[in-house]
This record gives sequence, structure tokens and C-alpha cells, in this order.
Amino acid sequence: MNECAPTIQETLFDFADTNVSEAGSRSVGPYSDPAFASNKSFPVHRWVPWVAGFSREFVVSALDKHLAGRSTVLDPFAGVGTTLVEAVVAGHEAVGFEINPFAVLASRTKASAHRIRSESLRDMINRFWSFYSSAVDGDYVCKSEPPHGFRTRGEFYSPAVLHKVLIVNDFINHLRQDDLRDVFRLAFAATMISYSNYSYEPSLSRRVSAGKQDIHDFPVGETVLAKLREMETDVAWMREHVDGTTKPATVFNESFFTAHRKVDTGTVDLVVTSPPYLNNYHYNRNTRPHLYWLGYANGNKDLLVLERQNFGKYWQTVRNSDHIGLDDTVRVDEIAECISQLRSKNTHKGVYGGNGWANYAATYFNDCARFVISAKRTLRRRGTALVVIGNSILQGVMIPTDRYLAKIADSHGLSVVDIHIPRSTRVGNSIIRSDVRVHKAETSHHLYEAVVELRKR
Ligand SMILES: C[S@@+](CC[C@H](N)C(=O)[O-])C[C@H]1O[C@@H](n2cnc3c(N)ncnc32)[C@H](O)[C@@H]1O
Repeated sequence: MNECAPTIQETLFDFADTNVSEAGSRSVGPYSDPAFASNKSFPVHRWVPWVAGFSREFVVSALDKHLAGRSTVLDPFAGVGTTLVEAVVAGHEAVGFEINPFAVLASRTKASAHRIRSESLRDMINRFWSFYSSAVDGDYVCKSEPPHGFRTRGEFYSPAVLHKVLIVNDFINHLRQDDLRDVFRLAFAATMISYSNYSYEPSLSRRVSAGKQDIHDFPVGETVLAKLREMETDVAWMREHVDGTTKPATVFNESFFTAHRKVDTGTVDLVVTSPPYLNNYHYNRNTRPHLYWLGYANGNKDLLVLERQNFGKYWQTVRNSDHIGLDDTVRVDEIAECISQLRSKNTHKGVYGGNGWANYAATYFNDCARFVISAKRTLRRRGTALVVIGNSILQGVMIPTDRYLAKIADSHGLSVVDIHIPRSTRVGNSIIRSDVRVHKAETSHHLYEAVVELRKR
């Protein structure tokens, strides 16, 4: 069998309470399915689509199971803030880290929505609509410009769409109140791809490459208005459901690896998180339009900074190195064997062969160890970390990242309470399929997602 890992059945024997069915799938544990799909219809969570987010139900089940009374919840890889929003709704103190500034805008705005004044928001939305409708029907000359440095292979917005987008941006740029401005920026960012000549397939690509027509004209203002109305409704929902004294989440626009400077030792009760998977999904490339249009990037150098900070790096950034090995912090023989097996694969393919992918996997597990060390430091005694992670297939080799993460955690003195598998096949496998390496392997291997439950002794 073409794996460096034992079969799924064999992988589980050393963790209590995890059942394995005959078909080789693990049993449903105490947590709800972590897939993001259900968020699309739930207040606040529905604001921003995010391909790699997890479900609010999963977070709610985690908070219910592990916390009693006001506690501190940490999400080291906050994404668009699923954990943080639910922690705030439940009245907890919420802290997050996230390197992508667009995701930070989303998570901060969502997890402070109970502090936005509904009447002011409604009033501003009405003003937006009267400004937009008179500008779009007249000879309005836009002051905003498309972001300098934002280069795309094809035209990102068709001219008629671009004119409307610039009208929207003119209004946003005149807003002086920070919280309202953030709501409007987010409404634009959440909808901006839907009227562009690009779409998520699931990686961001030109519509024409996916066999779709370019968008020559579109009701841009109406689309932004509908999003704003949804946000207005949800702000009212948040104000109803969240005690006004609950603090908004603190979201650091920084790598979690700086957490030792931001979070005191032993202060976190529960970590609920999902780091990037070992699937090379490119968060920065897929949010490039948002980063430029929101003014967070002016050129490639700004994206390179994000690439360098990314958990596990990207294959593109490490594939050319001769040999990236495991750090001393990864004291697990099985992982070392796996990496060396991977390195021996397809050596004739140069950077596309095993060495490049072995470098990528080694970097990933080095960062798993950094994560474990840092998470352990922040947790109080008996505090829990729930880490949602998917397995991977690189060069036809199945890599049980959940079990390897657990082994690394164990070697650093965290107890591995369990590995739960809420679902046997991964929703969002298409993220994996979009990549270059799995085509042969995916038919013979099983992709799953796991919740690794760790506890500080
Ligand atoms: C799987 S997503 C998390 C999604 C999140 N659970 C949600 O529901 O929105 C992983 C996130 O980790 C972020 N990230 C990557 N490297 C990071 C780092 N070193 N520190 C903090 N965040 C990082 C990525 O930008 C991405 O948003």
C-alpha cells in the first residue's frame, strides 16, 4: 500500500473512546460536524463566505461541553471568526490571531457587532442608497480609483461594473465612523467577487476558464445594499442575544507564533481552532482582490509577507530548497519515516517530485510543534484544545495529520484525550482536488477531517 501511515483502523488504537467502523471510518463524537456550510444561513456567520471555515454548531457544542461560567476562549487561526463570534455570544472573553487582514476585518467586525448602534447603521444604509442611486443614474464622476498594483490576467471588473464599484467605494471612503465604515467595507468585500469576472472554483480563477461568461453589467449597488440589510438585521440579533457588557473579541492581526508577547501564560480555558491543512490551499492568493481593494496590499511584497508568516508555509515557497528537515521539536519517528518516504518519491520530477513535497510536509510539522508548544503555554491547567484538521495525500502518500499532530502534542506533554471524526468524507474535498498532486491518489485513499482533543495536565 502506498502510504507511510498505517491504515485508518491501525491509526486509532492508542486513543481511547474512538470507535472505528468496519468500513474504516471513525465514529461521530460529541461534537457537531465542523463543516462551514450551515453558517451560510445563520446570523452574523453568513456575512462573509470563507472556503475553509468551520460550522458554528461545532463551536457551540465545544463551548457547551468544556466551559461553565465566563471563560477565556482562544482561536489561534481565527479566519472569519466562527469561534470568536460564538464565544462572544456565549458571554466569554474571546481572543484570536489571524495573519490575513481581510479575515481580521471580518472576524473583528462580526465579533463586535453587538456594539454597533442599529439606528446609526440603518440611517447610514439609507444614505448610501440615496447617494448610490442618484450617482448611478447621473453623470457622476468617481473619485476613487482601482487599487494600484492589482494586476490580473483578465479584466477584473468590466467597465460598467467598475464604475458602480467605484461609486460604492466613494461612499465608503467618506465614512468617518470606524465601526460603520468597517461594516460597509465588509459588505463590499463579501460581495465583490460575485460581480467580478472571477469566481471560486474553488480556487479563485477567471470565469471564462471555468466555462462561465464574463459579467458585463450587474446591479452592484443593489447587491451591496442587500448585504448591508442582512448585516443590519444581524446586528439587531446580536444586540438582542449578547449582553452589552460583553467585550468584543480581541483579534491580533499577527501570527499566532507571536502569542507569547500577547497572551499571558496559563490564562486560556479553551482553544477551538483549525490551522491551515496540509493541502497547500492558498489563502492569500484566494483573497488577493480583497487585500488590494481594501487597501491592505499595494504590491507582491505585501503578499509575500503573508506567505512567509503562513502556518506550514506554501509548497511554492519551499519546493526549491535542497532539504528541509524536521526540527528537534518534532520528536516522532513515524513522522520522520513518512517524510523520508515522501522524499524518495518521483525524484525524476524535480521540484514537482517528492523532495519539494517532503520539504513542505516537514515545514508543516515543524509548525505543528510550534503551535503545540505555544498553545500549551497559553492554556491553564486542565484547559482543553480542540484542533480541527484534515488528513492529506501528497505524491500518493496518505498523511494522517490528525494523528501526527496528536503524537507531537503527546511528546510535548499534552494529554491526547481523543481524536473524534465527526464525518467520514470531507466536505470541501474540492479544495484538495484543485491542487496538483492528488489526482491519482484520491481514488484509493480516504479523506477525512478530525477533531484532535488535547488537554494540559
Ligand atoms: C482553516 S482557516 C480557519 C477558519 C476558521 N476556523 C473559521 O471558521 O473562519 C485557517 C486560517 O489560519 C490563518 N493563518 C495561517 N497562518 C497563520 C498564522 N501563522 N497565525 C495566525 N493565523 C494564520 C489563515 O489565514 C486562515 O484564515
